[in-house]
Amino acid sequence: MPRAIVSPSVLASDFGQLTAECKRMIKGGAEWLHMDVMDGHFVPNITMGAPKNYLPPRSVPGIFMDCHMMVSQPEKWVDDIADAGGSLYCFHLEATSAHSTSYAPRFPSPTDSTLFLTTADPLPIIDHIHRRNMKAGVAISPDTPSTAITDEIAHAADMLLVMTVYPGRGGQKFLERCVPKVAELRARFPDKDIEVDGGVGPKTIDVCADAGSNVIVAGTAIFGAPEPEKVISLLKSTVER
Ligand code: DX5
Ligand code: ZN
Repeated sequence: MPRAIVSPSVLASDFGQLTAECKRMIKGGAEWLHMDVMDGHFVPNITMGAPKNYLPPRSVPGIFMDCHMMVSQPEKWVDDIADAGGSLYCFHLEATSAHSTSYAPRFPSPTDSTLFLTTADPLPIIDHIHRRNMKAGVAISPDTPSTAITDEIAHAADMLLVMTVYPGRGGQKFLERCVPKVAELRARFPDKDIEVDGGVGPKTIDVCADAGSNVIVAGTAIFGAPEPEKVISLLKSTVER
């Protein structure tokens, strides 16, 4: 299995002190930082975005920016995120031709079917991400089966993200029913980075680790802790055990 990585979700940080918060996480042992980019369209909220200074890499040397793109046109932001210093660009399969018909965001309430979703194919997006020297990730939401990630897509991508909450907001309850998808993907792709995101923390890490995820995103559980470095260390050691 690939190595354990903890990627604190800065969505749970104090945005007024983003640079300091990022540095605090790196000092606490985080190797990656998870940037939740929401466009108010694929999901109901808007967070940080593409303009160069909207993401904090230049002020945080050595940062690996794990950009989770909850956007309805994933092909549109590749260059901007690359220019902003993104290290990994992870887009949702539901926002592509591979799976667009079966997806509707569920938070905070079902969104009507007029939501515009792109029909771009995932493989050219992955190619574009790689041409911009970023790693490529493909995410699936709770209602999307692991089989939506074809062998071709998985082999082209560097990382697969299994959402354990409906995308759109931090601090939600972990959906354990998503965990079998991690095990299914790990069985198919023993060497691939598999990330879990949503409601992950000391209480839920065991099942994630047992299922085979190696990249652990946690927002509330890390930023809300009095000693974040202890949570980072616990999450990492659980995956490594
Ligand atoms: C949800 C985001 C997650 C979220 C994680 O849409 O993708 O990254 O911020 O936060 P917690 O760990 O608080 O669930
Ligand atoms: Zn995320």
